[in-house]
Amino acid sequence: MWVYLNDRFVPREEAVVSVFDHGFLYGDGVYETMRAYRGRVFLLEKHLARLERSAERLQLRMPIPREHLADLVRASIERNRLQEAYVRVTVSRGAGEIGLDPALCKTPTLVIIAKAFLPYPDSFYSEGISIAIVQTRRNLPEALPPDVKSLNFLNNILAKMEAIAVGAYEGVMLNHRDELTEGTTSNLFVVQNGRLCTPARECGILDGLTRGVVLQLADELKIPTEETRLYVEHLYGAEECFLTNTTHEVLPVTKANSRPVGNGRPGPITSRLRASFQTSLNGLLERT
Ligand code: PDD
Repeated sequence: MWVYLNDRFVPREEAVVSVFDHGFLYGDGVYETMRAYRGRVFLLEKHLARLERSAERLQLRMPIPREHLADLVRASIERNRLQEAYVRVTVSRGAGEIGLDPALCKTPTLVIIAKAFLPYPDSFYSEGISIAIVQTRRNLPEALPPDVKSLNFLNNILAKMEAIAVGAYEGVMLNHRDELTEGTTSNLFVVQNGRLCTPARECGILDGLTRGVVLQLADELKIPTEETRLYVEHLYGAEECFLTNTTHEVLPVTKANSRPVGNGRPGPITSRLRASFQTSLNGLLERT
């Protein structure tokens, strides 16, 4: 396995960063998770644009221009002879003296990991997964904006640990106003009276790329959509529920806090959107 580190490909064993890297010391950095299908990265441009936006919010200088980074992502897949792949691009503040001032770090660290994508069990999609509404609240946007995809992931890790502790696959966090926000690495959708609803960006979420694709597909399928404020009651009363992210795509949720969602089976709108996602994915990949 070859990992791209700063300015070259190195074998996995040599892919190490300094203990003085501020990504390690303080979680100071940004990242993106991407998915390649048949050797081609889905929504590569959009992922790189979001990476740049996240970096900008942290006043973190991108080490190389977007086109060069895109080439390196593609090269990482080729170099590792991958078809179905998971790709993670990380940019940290870099190594520097101990201290919070980013000026202590002269050069950002760039890492690209491309590895084989291991599919999730079929049962995730045929049976659906369970979620738990956890006690950990999503970061207050004024404290650590959830729309910055940063290395500072403890908020989500605490939520994930809570979910695991109660036997749920994903933890869903509320914000400080008791509104539903998102999962630890996923966006949340519910269907109510045939309407597809998802927490609005103002609720404090990462604006997921899969979320964006799904909202657009729903429009095309003439399924009414609403980006709004949702509460736990909406989830309990929902006809259907699903999560979205780059690796899970459209993932049905059939249990929330141990209660069945709807009739306890993946719902028809979820299935339509999942199928439509696959079709649009193939179409978009053809054109890249
Ligand atoms: N996570 N919300 C959070 C907090 C996330 O971390 C992610 C993605 C999403 C969904 O975004 P997208 O559809 O663009 O993947 C929502 C990735 C998969 C990760 O952390 O690896």
